[in-house]
Amino acid sequence: MADSAGFIIGYDDGDIDTNRSAGESLNEMVDRRYSRRDIFRSGTSAAAFAVFGGSLLSGCNAVSSIVARPVAIDPPATVTTGSSGATTSGRVVSLTGVAVDNAPIVSQQFVQVFGPSVTLTNPTAGSATFIAPSVSATTNMVFRYTVTDSAGSVTASDITVAVSPAQLGFTAIPKNRLDVVTLPPGYTATILYSLGDPINNTVPASLNNGNDTDYANRAGDHHDAIYWYGLAATGAARDDNSNTRGLLVINHENINQSYLHVNGPTSVGGVRPESEAQKEIDCHGLSVIETVRSAAGAWSYVVGSALNRRITPATPMTFNGPARGSPLLRTQFSPAGTDGRGTINNCANGFTLWGTNLTCEENWAGYFRRPTAVDNPRRTPKEITGLARFGVGSTNGNYGWASVAAASPANTLFRRWDVQATGASATDDFRHEPNQYGWVVEIDPYNPTSTPRKRTALGRFNHEGAWPSLFVVGRRPAFYMGDDAQNEYLYKFVSAAPWVAGDATAADRLAVGDRYLDAGTLFVARFSADGTGQWLPLTFGSGPLTPANTVYSFADQVDVLVHTRLAADAVGATRMDRPEWTAVNPVNGEMYLTLTNNASRTAATTDAANPRVYVDAPSPAVGNRNGHILRLREAGNTSEATSFTWDIYVFAAGSDLDAANINLSGLDATNDFSSPDGLWFGRPSNATGLVSPLLWVQTDDGAFTDVTNNQMLVAFPGSVGDGGNVTITNAGGTTQTTRRGALPGTQLRRFLVGPVQCEITGIDSTPDGRSVFVNIQHPGENGGPANITSNWPASQAGPATGSRPRSATIVITKNDGGVVGL
Ligand code: FEO
Ligand code: CA
Ligand code: CA
Repeated sequence: MADSAGFIIGYDDGDIDTNRSAGESLNEMVDRRYSRRDIFRSGTSAAAFAVFGGSLLSGCNAVSSIVARPVAIDPPATVTTGSSGATTSGRVVSLTGVAVDNAPIVSQQFVQVFGPSVTLTNPTAGSATFIAPSVSATTNMVFRYTVTDSAGSVTASDITVAVSPAQLGFTAIPKNRLDVVTLPPGYTATILYSLGDPINNTVPASLNNGNDTDYANRAGDHHDAIYWYGLAATGAARDDNSNTRGLLVINHENINQSYLHVNGPTSVGGVRPESEAQKEIDCHGLSVIETVRSAAGAWSYVVGSALNRRITPATPMTFNGPARGSPLLRTQFSPAGTDGRGTINNCANGFTLWGTNLTCEENWAGYFRRPTAVDNPRRTPKEITGLARFGVGSTNGNYGWASVAAASPANTLFRRWDVQATGASATDDFRHEPNQYGWVVEIDPYNPTSTPRKRTALGRFNHEGAWPSLFVVGRRPAFYMGDDAQNEYLYKFVSAAPWVAGDATAADRLAVGDRYLDAGTLFVARFSADGTGQWLPLTFGSGPLTPANTVYSFADQVDVLVHTRLAADAVGATRMDRPEWTAVNPVNGEMYLTLTNNASRTAATTDAANPRVYVDAPSPAVGNRNGHILRLREAGNTSEATSFTWDIYVFAAGSDLDAANINLSGLDATNDFSSPDGLWFGRPSNATGLVSPLLWVQTDDGAFTDVTNNQMLVAFPGSVGDGGNVTITNAGGTTQTTRRGALPGTQLRRFLVGPVQCEITGIDSTPDGRSVFVNIQHPGENGGPANITSNWPASQAGPATGSRPRSATIVITKNDGGVVGL
């Protein structure tokens, strides 16, 4: 046949072939001398072919003189693909091909010919890239670079890339007290969504000077837990695989009250202005915001998206599960005890496989006004026991919202924070309003008009979070939940419904929630010194959970669920050092729990799971000052288990502290920390959540802040039982034996340090792990308008004196586009 230049070329079958002579084709020659198919089939074919092809060309030129047809005078391109390389999972690999030819190159392409399938970026350029896949052992991948010149001449060369299992991909950063987010070299933080940012076009951009209003249409304060819900490229459809468009569901736990007003909060004679209180209330709750990544890689949120939503302490909610309709939930607003208004102090979260968010009401008790001296005489002894166990006894309530004289007498949204029993019955006042809080709330982020459902089967306490176990078809899923207060408990809810895979994609997501979250068994954990533990059921009628109980006479299962702490006391659960977040290893199902610290732990009350009592200078305070991270493995590796084994993954401590009794995990300058709080494993859709998943640890500390601002660390944490027993001597000289995991060494590293007076809390990533969302909560929290103590996030770009601090969501990306952390 003739090519475009009129030369006869010696092939017509479309094979990759470099024989431009009119004589024997490359295929014929290879078939004669070797089996071409065998070459491609063998593991060494790639490199062999590249070399072999080159040697054949000489032969072809040599034989061309003996054929009777014209000789091609356009030689093929010479291509090279550099040397073969080695990398680790999650890293960006660049493939470079170089073609040299006397004729113009008309096409070039990389294709993968061997190894775990990956997506090539820019495969038709001379430089393609891909993300090294997750592997459990070193694995070869082969890519072929093929070049066609204007004469139709085709040349190919292969390159082999050896991929090894994931490794931490950064150098630990030093502790610091700078007023910026500090990351390792090669990483960038983008500020995405800050306090006061508009979610729609009904409000102007934030002035950030105390004059902003209408926070029900702006970002709230104190960003806490966060979760990414993927969206299809267009429309409002859910797409769990999207890395470029999604909804971020963000908790707004609390407020930096003073910065919200021009000169801080005001009151006249103890009465708060309605406008100020409204602003403070609206700054609580959650945000649902559409977030997009541009083709160039820039992240932003979409002002005015129809899917954007603020959920506030006024948003209508319904009660589901056993307590729905209970007399204990009846109020003037909801005489039937079935409905409520809003959610508050939303701290950590959980997700479901059916696409909903579980937001958790943590420190709710303090918002209610109930001066005990005047209200207790109106209450029954049982009511007083219940209220006292949760600490509902504030003289004014947080921020004095109950003091507001609402402009409209029908507006009880301020009145309801006063929970004194002043009416003729519970439906004439808000004495039961506290019972409407302290729950796990399920939200459908994809439906902005849906009514959130409070899931009462999961119990009522200071719910930090509600992270699920692995979802296994045919097995009842579990949700692990900390109750964050000193000496409180770790809980597990096990659904009554075995998991059905098809429920993950059901259209009515909250109806799926009804199935898995409205019926089941609530358990509380008891840890034994031998490294085992039990899940104790909180089931009315069993053990001490009966009307005959002399501390608290339990009337029914609803009474158990509304007064969960009293039930857990009764069954003898282990009092923990402030249970915060839970996280579940997506590969082996092991559950991790942050125990942030405990100022009231004493040498007399240590146990194996809460073993340390010591001083961390300069404070003279004695207790578990720095916290630890405990982990457990369910018996039989099933969420349905009623027993488990456990150990302590890491003891937080400054590296200067006593290695024998305090710094028990051997932390050094690269990884010492205090007060672990946020906790999260990488998603199993990328290398941070496969094979050996990455654990992220965030701190909310007061004991180490003389040395460093709060921080985030990354680890490969090992597994339960990889260490052994250790006996320590506590302050006062008593000894305590505990279960210590293998020392983390360099597999635990400091990745981020936050700005002044912040807490690092809340983390999720896109499914590909290349964009990590982190919340910076309450920078500058100890200051106010007249004493601004942090200028972050404005300070991230340079000195910003005078700028008020704002809680904000940031996006962390690796500059080369790789998986964050690896
Ligand atoms: Fe909201 Fe326990 O942290
Ligand atoms: Ca927290
Ligand atoms: Ca906290």
